[in-house]
Amino acid sequence: MDPVIKASGIRRVFEGRQVLDGLDLDLSSGEFVAIIGRSGAGKSTLLAILGTHDLQYGGDLLVGGQDVRLASRGQLAALRRGYLGYVFQDFHLLPDLTALENAVLPAVFSGAGEEQAAKQAREVLDHLGVRIDDTPTAVLSRGERQRVALARGLVNKPRVLLADEPSASLDDQSEGVLFDLLDELRHAQGFTLVSVVHSTGVLSRADRVLELREGRLHATS
Ligand SMILES: Nc1ncnc2c1ncn2[C@@H]1O[C@H](COP(=O)(O)OP(=O)(O)OP(=O)(O)O)[C@@H](O)[C@H]1O
Ligand SMILES: [Mg+2]
Repeated sequence: MDPVIKASGIRRVFEGRQVLDGLDLDLSSGEFVAIIGRSGAGKSTLLAILGTHDLQYGGDLLVGGQDVRLASRGQLAALRRGYLGYVFQDFHLLPDLTALENAVLPAVFSGAGEEQAAKQAREVLDHLGVRIDDTPTAVLSRGERQRVALARGLVNKPRVLLADEPSASLDDQSEGVLFDLLDELRHAQGFTLVSVVHSTGVLSRADRVLELREGRLHATS
């Protein structure tokens, strides 16, 4: 089967510093790939490129068989809305909006009707155990906001979920619960999960653990 994402020779330079240096990554449908690496190694940089948020890369990137560099704005928007789900390390939630209002946005942008979009968002928030009420996300706990960000990444049932430390704010037990839910959803929906993880407790669940070091990915086992 064709890879859902194929990255070859990816390079990224910031202010003269080579952060990614000829990195290769092929992602298969349905697999869970964990990315590890020290702070500043370039993990978020890599996810931003795979998620088509950063287009200033060298090398070749195919997402869903489409060459990202050659894609039109409309094609990129369609990839971001339908094919890819994204969980930012620092959430990027709209603070004045509720959990439901934040989670529903990608579904609305993807053209689902208001009712259908709200149904999808409620389902995924329920699944992740986020309470649905009038509380603005600004005053939710960090762990609660993290789950809202995850719900927003999942609301359109993406083929690939790119998650940047989705359990960074959680204690070990809550992290286990979160990854149980992600496993369950991944098996039900068949999406590929690429997650930056900082804790060793999660690594045994991954099909592959790759360490980002000196600008490239290295298999750890
Ligand atoms: N927009 C930018 N401009 C300049 N430098 C940047 C930019 N984005 C990232 N960098 C630099 O690239 C390097 C990698 O950053 P990145 O955020 O990808 O690391 P990371 O592995 O995700 O780290 P952490 O574990 O702390 O989240 C860092 O040295 C960072 O300062
Ligand atoms: Mg990071």
